Amino acid sequence: MHQIGKKIDSEIFHVVGNVADTLGRECYIVGGYVRDLFLNRHSKDIDFVTVGSGIEVATSVAQQFGRKAYLNVFKNFGTAQVKFRGIELEFVGARRESYRRDSRKPIVEDGTLDDDLSRRDFTINAMALCVNQNRFGELVDKYDGVGDLERGLIRTPLDPDITFSDDPLRMMRAIRFATQLEFTIFDETFDAITRNAQRIEIISKERVMDELMKIMASRRPSIGWELLSKCGLLKLIFPQLAALKGVETVNGRGHKDNFYHTLEVLDNVAAKSDNVWLRWTALLHDIAKPVTKRWDEKIGWTFHNHNFIGAKMIPRIFREMKFPLNEKMKYVQKLVELHMRPIALVEDEVTDSAVRRLLFDAGDDIDDLMLLCNADITSKNPEKVRRVLENFAIVRRKLVEIEEKDRIRNFQPPVSGEEIMEIFGLSPSREVGLIKDSIKDAILEGIIPNERDAALEYMHKTAHSMGLSPIK
Ligand code: CTP
Repeated sequence: MHQIGKKIDSEIFHVVGNVADTLGRECYIVGGYVRDLFLNRHSKDIDFVTVGSGIEVATSVAQQFGRKAYLNVFKNFGTAQVKFRGIELEFVGARRESYRRDSRKPIVEDGTLDDDLSRRDFTINAMALCVNQNRFGELVDKYDGVGDLERGLIRTPLDPDITFSDDPLRMMRAIRFATQLEFTIFDETFDAITRNAQRIEIISKERVMDELMKIMASRRPSIGWELLSKCGLLKLIFPQLAALKGVETVNGRGHKDNFYHTLEVLDNVAAKSDNVWLRWTALLHDIAKPVTKRWDEKIGWTFHNHNFIGAKMIPRIFREMKFPLNEKMKYVQKLVELHMRPIALVEDEVTDSAVRRLLFDAGDDIDDLMLLCNADITSKNPEKVRRVLENFAIVRRKLVEIEEKDRIRNFQPPVSGEEIMEIFGLSPSREVGLIKDSIKDAILEGIIPNERDAALEYMHKTAHSMGLSPIK
C-alpha cells in the first residue's frame, strides 16, 4: 500500500471496494480527491472510475449503504451518484474520449484506466488509488503527479496542445490551480496556453467566471491575473482590465503602470479581507483610468473623474461577466465611486464636516472603504506613505468620534418629508425636498446637532426664508 493509502482506510472506501470485487470490476478513486489527500485539503466529492460500467457499482454501493443513501443515475452520461452522510460519491466507467474542434462535447467510448487518466487535465489530477481489496490503497501515478506536487508544478499528462484543445476551459483551470496552490505552470504547458488562448471563445462566460471567482478567493489573487495577462487570455476575457497595462511617456514623464498598481491593491485587500466583492472592488477601482487618461502640459498625467466614470462602467462589466446585478453590484459601484474620498480628505485639513459627509455617503460600508483606501497607498516613497498613513489614523479617530456623537452612518432624517408637508400645508413639491436637504446639510456641516428639536427649529427658519409659514 502507498503511504497515502492509509488515509482512505475507512468504511466507505472498503464498502465500495467490496462491491467492486463482487461485481468483478477494477475500481479507483481519481482526480481532485487523490490530489487533495496529498495536499491535506478536505474534499467532500469523491470521484470513482471503474473499468466497465460505473452505474452498476453505484447501484450496488447505494444498496449496501441502505436507506440513508440516495442514488442518482445519469444514463445518457454513463454516470451515477450516491449521496451518503453528506458526502457525494460519483461513479463513471473508464473512458476514452476524443473531441471535435468546435465543441467541448466529447465522443466517448469505453476505455482502460490509463486511457481515462491520460485524458485528464493535469498530472496532479491524473492519479488513481485502487479500492479493490487485494490492491487497496495502491497508487497509480503514470504521469508523476506525486513528483509534480512536490515540485509545485502544473503540467499536462499528454502533449498540452491536445489537452487544451480537448477542453479549452483547462487553460483557465491551469491558472486557477497555479493561483490556489501557488504552483508554477510548466513552461511547455504555459506556452501551449499562449498558443491556444483564442480557443477560450467556445467556453461559456459562466464557466470562465467560476474560475475567476476561485482565483479571487485565493490568498494572492494577483498570481492568476498576472498569468492571464502574460498568456494573452486576459484581453479576450476581460479587455477593460487588460487596457490598464502599460506606461505611456510624454516629455520623459511616465505614469505608473495601472495594471500592476491594481494587482498590488488587490493583494493588499486580500491580505486583510475575505470579502470577495471587496476584492472585486479593488480590482475595478481604477478601471476607468485608460479612458480618462490625459496629458496636461502643466500638471502632467491626469485621470480626471476616473472614479465616477469607473462606477458608471460597472453595470456593463457585471452584465458581460454574468455577475449578479443586485446589491453586490451596487456595493462595488459605490466603493469605486468613493475610493478617492478619504485620500482627498487627508490631503486637505481633516474637517468634521468632511468626515460627516464621508460617513453619510459610505454608510455601513465605511470600514470597507477605509480598508480599500489603505490598500491603495502603494507609493514607493516611504516619506509620502508615512504622511498619508498618519493622516489616515486621524481620519479613523474622527470617524469613530463623530459617529458616536452624530450617528451619521445610518442617517435617518430627523424630520420626514410628510411632516414638512403637513406643517406647511404643502403637496409633494420641490420646496419639500429643499427644506429636507437643508436640514441634512446643516447636520452634516455641523451647524446643528443630529437631533429632532434642533432640526425642527432649523426647518422653521429655512421655511420662513422661503416665504412659507406653518398652517397651524
Ligand atoms: N477534469 C479534467 N478537465 C476538466 C475538468 C476536470 O480533466 N476540464 C478532471 C480532473 O482529473 C479533475 C476531475 O476531473 O481532478 C474532477 O474535476 P472537478 O471536480 O471539476 O475539479 P477538481 O480537480 O476536483 O478540483 P476543484 O474541486 O478544486 O474544482
